[in-house]
Amino acid sequence: MAAANARKYCRDLCHSCCVCGFVVIFCLTILFLIAFFIFSLIFLPQEPKFTITNASLTQFNLSTATAANSGHNKLLIYKLSLNITLRNPNKKVGFYFDRVKVMANYSKKRFALVTLNNTTPFYQGRKNTTILHNVVLEGQQTMSFKEKDDEQYKLEISSGVYSIDVKLALRLKIRFGKIKTGHLKPPTINCNNLKLPLLSSNGNENNGHFKKPKFTITDTSLTQFNLSATNSNSNNKLLIYKLPLNVTFGNPNNKVGFYFDRVRVIANYRKKRFALVTLNNTTPFYQGRKNTTVLHNVVLEGQQTMSFKEKDDEHYELETSSGVYSIDVKLALKLRVRYGKIKTEYFKPPTIDCNNLKLSLSNHNDHRENYGGLNFKPVKCKNIGIFTSGEVY
Ligand SMILES: *[C@@H]1O[C@H](CO)[C@@H](O)[C@H](O)[C@H]1NC(C)=O
Ligand SMILES: *[C@@H]1O[C@H](CO)[C@@H](O)[C@H](O)[C@H]1NC(C)=O
Ligand SMILES: *[C@@H]1O[C@H](CO)[C@@H](O)[C@H](O)[C@H]1NC(C)=O
Ligand SMILES: *[C@@H]1O[C@H](CO)[C@@H](O)[C@H](O)[C@H]1NC(C)=O
Ligand SMILES: *[C@@H]1O[C@H](CO)[C@@H](O)[C@H](O)[C@H]1NC(C)=O
Ligand SMILES: *[C@@H]1O[C@H](CO)[C@@H](O)[C@H](O)[C@H]1NC(C)=O
Ligand SMILES: *[C@@H]1O[C@H](CO)[C@@H](O)[C@H](O)[C@H]1NC(C)=O
Ligand SMILES: *[C@@H]1O[C@H](CO)[C@@H](O)[C@H](O)[C@H]1NC(C)=O
Ligand SMILES: *[C@@H]1O[C@H](CO)[C@@H](O)[C@H](O)[C@H]1NC(C)=O
Ligand SMILES: *[C@@H]1O[C@H](CO)[C@@H](O)[C@H](O)[C@H]1NC(C)=O
Repeated sequence: MAAANARKYCRDLCHSCCVCGFVVIFCLTILFLIAFFIFSLIFLPQEPKFTITNASLTQFNLSTATAANSGHNKLLIYKLSLNITLRNPNKKVGFYFDRVKVMANYSKKRFALVTLNNTTPFYQGRKNTTILHNVVLEGQQTMSFKEKDDEQYKLEISSGVYSIDVKLALRLKIRFGKIKTGHLKPPTINCNNLKLPLLSSNGNENNGHFKKPKFTITDTSLTQFNLSATNSNSNNKLLIYKLPLNVTFGNPNNKVGFYFDRVRVIANYRKKRFALVTLNNTTPFYQGRKNTTVLHNVVLEGQQTMSFKEKDDEHYELETSSGVYSIDVKLALKLRVRYGKIKTEYFKPPTIDCNNLKLSLSNHNDHRENYGGLNFKPVKCKNIGIFTSGEVY
């Protein structure tokens, strides 16, 4: 009896042991999952972000003359320089970049691969941005071209713009606080379909294919430019201004058109911005080949608090007594370039400078010859980096 009881007790004990153990394991699993979920929420890294910030193609020459079985084998001689920006958007995660390989394809065939041995390995900390300057892909490669690839190449020669795919293959470790992962090879990062104009090797001139568009301030009249003290803070002055402008865009190219998606006109006095207008009424517009577009009566008008130092005040007083003010006008554009049938993506070239306009105040009733001072000479704008720089998307 006692033995039977003991056996029963034992069975119960075993049974409850099992249940208990099961419950404990179950609970632990749930806890682990919750912990993992919280850990992931806190630590799960966002991917590093890559942007090709500059690209310049200075050689891209396909020659038919290759060895014996010539047929479809072509020799491609190329030089492509890139600046690649890597940004780590994470607050708690760092990346060890062990190896960075940069590859380029043309017509879906690889022609270049470099391993960045000089700049890698490197560590990129939290919220950091690293620029890989002047990654140069240069050399020659035999390409097995089909007829359709040849046709594509011929089309692109005539437009002077080549579609190139750039790829990045990485080997990296991820660091979460004090924990480091092993080596990982994430999937290849694609920056496909860059439309790159072929530049001459000095990078600035446009190889006969392209001429920079021209921007000119053709007329202006400063009708108000009044600086007055604000009560609160003696360094802050209120500038009341009215500056109408006529801006001329000239496209000297025979085969190239521009889609101006956005045009912003900015004005600075003493290197401080006092006006910005976005020309919503006249943009977007397309400017075809050999065309000249005049943006009439772009009016910068309003008031702006300026934080002026004593020097700036003195300068303003000097200019007031001479009656002529020096004002810098800038154009910030967003545009696409069209080469024949090929269009680039939208990009933002560096701001165009129409600096040091010498403007005398004219009152509203002045006759035409007083606009912009007695003889306002058109001012040609500088720093036109449309074919050579700017962001490539
Ligand atoms: C391409 O190479 C050939 C042969 O080397 C040369 O004759 C030709 O001028 C080159 N073209 C360009 C655009 O560099
Ligand atoms: C990359 O950046 C450097 C310095 O910012 C500049 O001198 C160089 O021209 C750029 N490279 C390309 C291909 O634009
Ligand atoms: C790039 O070239 C490689 C090798 O020729 C090829 O395997 C790959 O599919 C190409 N990628 C693309 C997107 O064209
Ligand atoms: C970079 O290193 C790899 C192997 O580590 C090597 O195969 C390659 O030739 C090197 N490249 C350069 C440009 O030194
Ligand atoms: C980014 O990393 C570089 C090199 O590790 C360092 O010099 C720089 O201060 C870092 N910048 C920021 C914003 O953390
Ligand atoms: C700009 O052009 C228009 C029309 O041609 C003209 O009436 C105006 O006086 C010009 N000048 C300014 C400063 O707007
Ligand atoms: C500038 O504004 C002040 C105050 O509004 C006014 O008294 C003064 O006459 C104005 N000067 C000019 C040149 O318009
Ligand atoms: C032009 O459009 C931008 C955004 O598209 C807007 O912020 C701005 O206020 C507009 N300007 C005018 C003068 O309507
Ligand atoms: C310039 O473009 C405008 C608008 O597209 C068009 O009306 C005009 O005829 C063009 N002028 C020339 C010289 O092609
Ligand atoms: C590269 O891009 C930067 C920033 O956009 C620009 O200042 C620089 O002039 C560009 N360089 C070339 C060679 O295009």
